[in-house]
Amino acid sequence: MKNCDFIAAQLIEWYSDNRRDLPWRNTSDPYKIWISEIILQQTRVAQGLEYYNRFVERFPDVQALASADEQEVLKLWQGLGYYSRARNLHLAAKTIFSEYNAVFPKDYQAVLNLKGIGEYTAAAIVSFAWNMPYPVVDGNVFRFLSRLFAINEPIDTNKGKKQFTELAGKLMDKTQAGLFNQAIMEFGALQCTPASPDCPVCPFQSRCPAYATNSVEQFPVKQNKTQTKDLYLYYFHIHDGRQVWINQRHHKGIWQNLFEFPLIEAETSLSFEQLSEIIRQKSWLPGTTGYSFRLIIENKKHILSHRILHASFYEVHMEKLPAITEFISIDIRNWEEYPLHRLMQYYLETTANGKSYSILKIPFAG
Ligand code: ADE
Repeated sequence: MKNCDFIAAQLIEWYSDNRRDLPWRNTSDPYKIWISEIILQQTRVAQGLEYYNRFVERFPDVQALASADEQEVLKLWQGLGYYSRARNLHLAAKTIFSEYNAVFPKDYQAVLNLKGIGEYTAAAIVSFAWNMPYPVVDGNVFRFLSRLFAINEPIDTNKGKKQFTELAGKLMDKTQAGLFNQAIMEFGALQCTPASPDCPVCPFQSRCPAYATNSVEQFPVKQNKTQTKDLYLYYFHIHDGRQVWINQRHHKGIWQNLFEFPLIEAETSLSFEQLSEIIRQKSWLPGTTGYSFRLIIENKKHILSHRILHASFYEVHMEKLPAITEFISIDIRNWEEYPLHRLMQYYLETTANGKSYSILKIPFAG
């Protein structure tokens, strides 16, 4: 048996003994496989499972998703983060509906051309649904291959990605591409884990150079050019006890189209005096003085892949909330209808929907 065949056979045997029984593994419906792969891109299986079940129950096929309201799609996604995934799913469903008669295209290139689908996801869909021999290379596969072949090429470069994809393609059992791809990913996820893998029970232990040189945790190698940037978010919960101002984020980037309180965003932290001055310039509040700003949450950290967010929330209670064109006034009791991002959810949970505050400080504007 050739080395490649041995590795594929071992992976598949290991998979049949150790696989997790997950709903998207018991279907060959490319739509459901697609939904699962998008959910699992930045989400752990345990959390993704619940979202997957709810999503496919509400939108069981391309047609149901294509004809949905974006707001409803985002609402179902609420809490998962990386909302561009949900917007792209929705857009791609519309494309499949209009260009492919609501039938998922059975062609790698056509799948790859859909919004939000990269090489990994396209390979996963066509191999799991139709056994097409495209290798999947996700973080689990990078880790396993880098250890088993002691590859020092960084995985976050185009050269590295190409090298790993070629190797995965060579190892693949082309007669059962879907099964092989599931097996190699599951092996990386459960056996060849990032930290403290259980090497003594690994079927590849005797031929693993990383194990032999006691350097398992040094693989995979990363160039790590990703820079994280700090961003300071100051939210203002401005209300009159019945109505509250909210705003929909329209600009591209994180949380596009989700709802939040009026916001001042900055790359450095701002003092309360600076915030008051900005609010005055923006004319959010009629007149300039006399408002009490209660600092409810100070510097709550939220870490994203490229950003570290520092969020603070102020509450301002007004006699009567005026109508201004910049914000939407909504009834406080209708929060549930709006898709909100993590920080907004955090605020509402911490304050029992804005009804109970443990006040940190009470600065005064003006
Ligand atoms: N992560 C990404 N795709 C997956 C899959 N199909 N099963 C389990 N975990 C995954």
